[in-house]
Amino acid sequence: VRPDAAWREEVLRLAERRNAVILAHNYQLPEIQDIAHHTGDSLALSRIAADSDADTIVFCGVHFMAETAKILSPTKTVLIPDERAGCSLADSITAEDLRAWKAEHPGAVVVSYVNTTAEVKAETDVCCTSSNAVDVVRSIPADREVLFCPDQFLGAHVKRETGRENLHVWAGECHVHAGINGPELAEKAAANPDADLFIHPECGCATSALYLAGEGTVPQDRVKILSTGDMVKAARGTSARTVLVATEVGMLHQLRRAAPEIDFRAVNDRAACRYMKMITPAALLRALREGRDEVHVDPDVAERARGAVQRMIAIGQ
Ligand code: 13P
Ligand code: SF4
Repeated sequence: VRPDAAWREEVLRLAERRNAVILAHNYQLPEIQDIAHHTGDSLALSRIAADSDADTIVFCGVHFMAETAKILSPTKTVLIPDERAGCSLADSITAEDLRAWKAEHPGAVVVSYVNTTAEVKAETDVCCTSSNAVDVVRSIPADREVLFCPDQFLGAHVKRETGRENLHVWAGECHVHAGINGPELAEKAAANPDADLFIHPECGCATSALYLAGEGTVPQDRVKILSTGDMVKAARGTSARTVLVATEVGMLHQLRRAAPEIDFRAVNDRAACRYMKMITPAALLRALREGRDEVHVDPDVAERARGAVQRMIAIGQ
């Protein structure tokens, strides 16, 4: 299937016939981002899914995102064009792991990143995304212990920002972001001394970026730790002519659309998420034609997870 005009027309026609809204994450293939009714980060897309009056949500992203939409809108049909689109970070903690961790810290508040399964969310007090993780943790009384899972780099970022000693971090990671490393960032930053650095907090290099700022290699105000949605906002606001981007490479498409005059360069151009890229033009067409893959969440699990997800979409800008 070529993503040509005939494909676009057919996708939009079928979406209208199903009264479906197509949502795409910022890491999707450019042609998928371009045809979606809304493209954004995981928090923005969750909010749109919760508010939408469409009958069907076609989630062009990974499985936990579609599950989150189903938890928020249990009466809607939620489709993902390929249900094999998983997430290595979501796989880094199970509900059983979390129950055992909670048993070691009775009374602690559990904050789970949205990149988790519905079963993990059902064991969680409040979910967060990279754009509101700091606000979510700040909303918890200072004397309560916090268990933060599953991303260790986002957890370290939240700990730094909140200065909270009673925050415990699970040792999970995303294989794509963990692979964007400090030496590579340092080398690119040295070669582009006037560039801004946009770093996703899931990156292994986030600490190195702050180190570069601390030692004066990069001016402090040029290092920005941002969610994917906040990167688009920052792109519109910066005076830099070059921006080094540390996240999944699909992000470059929205950034270039938002600020075509800026030279956006990937810190690691091999940082592609194979799960995100499973949502091909052919898969999207098939989803709309055949009504699959449909996402189901066990109603009891969804019921127990819903409060944590609703608290997530209520916190932060
Ligand atoms: P955000 O869109 O929340 O920045 O998430 C990044 C991510 O890794 C999703 O898979
Ligand atoms: Fe998961 Fe990482 Fe892919 Fe995001 S980029 S979906 S965190 S594996």
